[in-house]
Formats: sequence, structure tokens, C-alpha cells
Amino acid sequence: MKKTHMRELFAANPNRFREFFIEAAGIKLDFSKNLITAKTMKLLADLAEERRLTDAVNEMFRGEQINRSEQRPALHIALRNASERPIYVDGQDVMPEVRATLEKMELFTWKIRSTQWRGFSNLPFTDIVSIGIGGSFLGPKLVSAALKPYWNDTLNCHYVANIDGTHITEVLKHLDPETTLFLIQSKSFGTQETLENAKVARHWFMQNGGSEDTIGKHFVAITANVPSAIEFGIAEDNIFPMWDWVGGRYSLWSAIGLPTALAIGMDGFRALLSGAYAMDEHFRTAPIDQNLPIILALLGVWYSNFMDADSYAILPYDHYLRGLPAHLQQLDMESNGKRVTHNGDEVDYQTGPIIWGGAGANGQHAYHQLLHQGTRLAPADFIIPLHTHNPVANHHAILFANCLSQTQALMQGKTLSEAKQELIAAGMSAREADALAPHKVIPGNKPSNTVLFERATPRTIGALIAMYEHKVFVQGALWDINSFDQWGVELGKQLGNEILRKLVSAPAREQSSPTLDASTQGLVDLYLGRDKH
Ligand code: F6P
Repeated sequence: MKKTHMRELFAANPNRFREFFIEAAGIKLDFSKNLITAKTMKLLADLAEERRLTDAVNEMFRGEQINRSEQRPALHIALRNASERPIYVDGQDVMPEVRATLEKMELFTWKIRSTQWRGFSNLPFTDIVSIGIGGSFLGPKLVSAALKPYWNDTLNCHYVANIDGTHITEVLKHLDPETTLFLIQSKSFGTQETLENAKVARHWFMQNGGSEDTIGKHFVAITANVPSAIEFGIAEDNIFPMWDWVGGRYSLWSAIGLPTALAIGMDGFRALLSGAYAMDEHFRTAPIDQNLPIILALLGVWYSNFMDADSYAILPYDHYLRGLPAHLQQLDMESNGKRVTHNGDEVDYQTGPIIWGGAGANGQHAYHQLLHQGTRLAPADFIIPLHTHNPVANHHAILFANCLSQTQALMQGKTLSEAKQELIAAGMSAREADALAPHKVIPGNKPSNTVLFERATPRTIGALIAMYEHKVFVQGALWDINSFDQWGVELGKQLGNEILRKLVSAPAREQSSPTLDASTQGLVDLYLGRDKH
């Protein structure tokens, strides 16, 4: 296939678009602009079968401990299971707990949105501040931004994640403690960034009219670690549960999605879950060659493992979806950035790609140059709704045309003779055209998928995100890696604590530490000596 050009494939097969187009759960996928034939897809499907993918899918849906290094199931699918099917963890059906939590969310969102639950001075809430990081931040932030047209006009939704004090300072600066509700979002309730920001929020509240008696009206937690949330000062009734069997980056469907539910209402949140459920059912039941997440996963494997692509671009042509690359970065890279198999053997093939991207069409005036003429192969997903929520002038048609022209240009490119002819037609001499034409050559043959849906509704956004979750799962299964742990992030946390002690404890200032390498020690010294310069 490396010797084949997609131009030829399109020329040879007028049915190519129809043959490589599928639709499920409201998501349409045109994957015809990939360097594949029916035979390629058949061989990739064989690979999936050889890797016993169907067994892996069934294991996940049955609640088996597929996160083997942490001995846990990965059951985000239970959070949106709209069927009567029970899902067991350690012999216990988790569905009653899931439903009870949704009901608790429903009551809470109703109380806040109907202004029954008010702040300490009896004013209704105007602002929600979600404090969390990683999966306790990116997913809810993405979804609430994606569904902005559905927001309640009277409630504003803010997010604080970074331990850079600028983040919380800038958010709190414009808020009134009397009308601000804080959601402390942390599965572990042990994440340094979140706890430190939560303390700052509590202090700000106390300094500005709040009290121990009224904190219960303004602080709510979402966590699997209830004792630590209580110790922090959150009333037990104000704690929404999470469970060990939900990974952080898969948690936007749980009570971690509370900021979204507050912003768009519980009906909207349930519609989001129903979209994800529709994708789950498609994923669980459709044959490999008609299975949207599996096809996406196989194409990713094709480029990573057979064509040496290192990265994968996510290009949403929808302003509301501009947070999608950041969410998928965590989803994909924290899940599949792994180097050993389930058994602990080092892999001798590439695993998860580097995910990057940004809002189309802005990227066309920035990094698309490398996609068109650079030396690296970076497959891309172009994601666009057929209808916009904001039909301004001719904007959506222009946006759509931009999206399509990019995938077309990536696929077909421009040959040397086409470039020369164009220059000569524009009045250039043959000599000048010869000199300039090589710079204008665009090799083409660059793969892309076009992912479409009617409109960015709660349901389609639910289906879209679930589609990517399952894509990541399939790739993890093919690579025989654990997509549900993240031990790699721990070393930085450990070392960070050690360095922090050196930065803040006075005696350490006097002496250098034998445990630090020279570079880190030098940088610590710069920090400790910063006032002197
Ligand atoms: O450090 C990575 C991580 O563990 C993510 O997997 C997780 O989403 C994030 O930190 C936040 O964790 P928590 O919800 O426990 O605060």
C-alpha cells in the first residue's frame, strides 16, 4: 500500500465513498480518504479477531477486572447503561447505586436551578466553580463547552485545575461569594492541585462573609473517598459518590459530570448518557467491519504500526468542541501511553500515538502546513456538524467548505506537472516555473477521517465521546496493554513532593541534597536564591 496513491484508488472505484462510510448512534464516518482497500480492512479485521477482540469487549461489558495492575473492572459503560441488564462488581449489581446517584444529581440540579437551594444570604447562585484536574476537569469542561447552547442563562460555569495560583485568582476575581457554589471534584480526594485550590476557595469564602455554619450551602464534593471529603469540611449529604471501577478519564458520565448537569439541566445530562449508551450498544453488537470505534481503532493501528505515524491529529470544525483535543489527549495518551503488556513484557511495537490538534479552521493558518508538505505522517480526524447552532451569514457553509477542502487537499495533493502548469498559466516563464514548482508540490496521499453528525446535541456529543473511548479500548486490546492504569504519572508526583520540601523548608536552604541530580539542584538553588538577584 505504501506504493499506492489514494488518487488512483478513488479513480478506480466510483463507489469508494459509499464503501467506506458508516453511521451509528447519530455519528457518520467517511473513512474513504485512507490508504486502504477492502483487502486492507479485511486483514486488519483478521488481526482484531486473532487478538480475540470480541472476548475483550465482552470482558469489559461483563465487569471483569480488565484493569489488571489495579485489579479493577473499567465500567464507565455502567454509568450510561439504560437497559435493565445488571452489571456485577464482586457479585454485587452496581446499577442501583448508579441510578441512585443520578437521582441525587437530579434533585440537586433541580434545587440549584430552580433557586430553592440558595447561598448564605438567600440569593440564588449565579456561578459554579468546579475544582478538579485531569479526568475530573477535562471531560466535564469539554462537555459543558460543547453544549453551551443548552446552558441555563442564569448560571455561569467556571473551571479551576492548575496549581498555578493565577488560575484560581483569575476565576475568583470576578465572583461574589454570596452567589458562588464550589464543586470539589476528585476521585481520590488526594490530588495536590485540587486540594490546594479547594483550600484557597474555602479561605476566600470564609474571608468574604462565609462561615462554618454556611459552608454546607456553598461546598459540594464528588469523590470515591468520602472520609477525606468529610475531613476537609464537606457535609456528608453534600458528597456525591464515585467508584473505584470508574477511571478518572472516563468519569464525565458519573457525578463528576455535575457541572455539566447544572449547566444544561438533568434532562440534557441524561440525553448525553443516552447518546453514549447508543454508541456502547453499537460497539458491543456490531460486526467488526461495521463497527465505528473498531474501524477507527484499526485505522490508527494501521498508521502507527505499519506506516510509522507517531502522532494523530484531532481537528474539530466546531468552536464549541475546541476542548476535544485536550480531552482526547488525556483519554488516549494516559490510557495507551504504555510500554509493557498485561504480563509485564516489554512491547516491541509502538503503542498509543501522540494526540494533538485544535480548532479548525484556525489550524489551517498554522500547523496544517506540516500536514500538507512536512516529512511526517500525521493521520487526522476532521470533526464537523452538518448544522450549526449559530447560523451567522454564510459562515457554516464556508467552515464546511474549508473542512472538506483540507481533507481533499491532503488526499489528492498537487503533482509537479500540475504545479508547473498552474504557474505557466499564471504567466510565468518555463524557467521560473521550473524553479518554483518543487516548492508548490503537495504529495497528497495523507490520510484523514471525516466525522460528522447532524448537530452538536447532548445525545450526539455523548455518542462522539463514547466512540473515542471505545477506539482507545480497542487499540489497548490489540496492543495487549492495560488502558486503565497510569503508573507513569506517579514518579513526577513523588519527586515533586521531595522537591517541594526543599523549596519550602528553611534548613534545606543551607545545604545541597545528595539525592538531587546537579541540574535539579542547580534549579532548586536558583529558586531559593531568587530574592537575592
Ligand atoms: O495524575 C493523573 C490522575 O490520576 C488522572 O488519571 C486523574 O484523572 C487525575 O489525576 C485527577 O485525579 P483525582 O480525580 O483523583 O483528583
